[in-house]
Amino acid sequence: QTGLTALDQGFVNTAATKSAITYIDGDAGILRYRGYAIEDLAANSTYLETAWLLIHGELPTAVELDHFEDTIRRHTLLHEDLRRFFDALPHNAHPMSVLSSAVGALGTFYQDSLDVHDPEQVEISTIRLLAKLPVIAAYAHKKSLGQAFLYPDNSLSFVDNFLKLNFGNMAEPYVVNPVLSRALERLLILHEDHEQNASTSTVRLVGSTEANIFSSISAGINALYGPLHGGANEAVLTMLKEIKDSGESVERFVERVKNKEDGIRLMGFGHRVYKNFDPRAKLVKESADEVLDALGVRDDLLDIAKELEEVALADDYFIERKLYPNVDFYTGVIYKAMGFPPRMFTVLFAIGRMPGWIAHWREMNEDPATRIGRPQQLYVGPTERAWPRR
Ligand code: SDX
Repeated sequence: QTGLTALDQGFVNTAATKSAITYIDGDAGILRYRGYAIEDLAANSTYLETAWLLIHGELPTAVELDHFEDTIRRHTLLHEDLRRFFDALPHNAHPMSVLSSAVGALGTFYQDSLDVHDPEQVEISTIRLLAKLPVIAAYAHKKSLGQAFLYPDNSLSFVDNFLKLNFGNMAEPYVVNPVLSRALERLLILHEDHEQNASTSTVRLVGSTEANIFSSISAGINALYGPLHGGANEAVLTMLKEIKDSGESVERFVERVKNKEDGIRLMGFGHRVYKNFDPRAKLVKESADEVLDALGVRDDLLDIAKELEEVALADDYFIERKLYPNVDFYTGVIYKAMGFPPRMFTVLFAIGRMPGWIAHWREMNEDPATRIGRPQQLYVGPTERAWPRR
């Protein structure tokens, strides 16, 4: 918002959204969900415990968490017609397109419980979205592989069930790797919310029209898909592979970014809010070494990423523009080591972000002051003109 007059700035500020869910201090690199530091949550919590915190505002009691987990486990099955929905899609459909389409379609199976003003219906929709998104995501993955879909295994935890749905098959038992399980749980927690980012703002704006929660979140998934937002984690891996395959030095690539050759950007770098460092990027980078070592995986793309960070952060061009690694810079290397194809990376981001989208939709929906969204504009077009004599 540089260059705006004080009047314009005031004009923009009145449009700020009030929320009690997530706090970010971009200069200090602080991120807190309902007041709890992201570092504490990543180290001590689980995806569903943090989801409860974001949605209800407090950490769940042991009884509440146990009931929440059990309820979600009992809602993982998709209606068979929705499972057949995937047959209509091309095998090479991007999983993010599949995800937004299937989530929008999911709501059509519950037309008797879409009333946005009925707390019980909002609650069961919350459960259905949390329980079924991982299954839809895994089906999108299996569809792209041409492999048979598995059914959920309710004897497993949320994350382990998701891993089995993706990497299990009908021919042999699936053994969960605890390293993968814990690493994925931690990565999902890091993605659960991030205040008024583009996709969450989309969910709130669509929800402000009283559209149902499935339609609102389907819109948010589409916003996340973009390479400047959640799609960046896939774009980072493409960038790293291109540097490796071209044999181009990291220094030369950075020079091309600085010259804005062909409009290229250092994907996974920069952030509208973080002007120092993204605390999530630090935590992901720590995980990258741990996970690859534990899996016995060597990946020179991680070495290229680390060299890129080192070269960029020693260069005034990036420092002056306050461009630091964001959450997307290192995640792809870990997802790749886990066995996910790059087109699934943003889908993993969406599973992470689902609790945040739900929490914001419910906060917006429950606020009596909420009115339909109508972003303001500064008109800079022509003044009135007479219709030309012909
Ligand atoms: C996410 O909002 C959120 O919280 C999002 C997110 C979440 O959790 O929901 O954190 C997740 O989306 C992270 C961001 C992932 N996207 C990328 O990594 C894509 C690469 N990054 C950028 O395109 C960019 O940094 C954005 C989109 C993230 C932020 O864009 P801004 O704030 O609008 O910054 P800008 O485009 O106005 O750039 C300011 C300057 C420009 O240079 P000049 O024109 O002044 O010379 O910085 C340059 C830009 O050219 N710049 C970059 C750059 N990002 C900005 N130059 C090279 N590489 C980059 N990555």
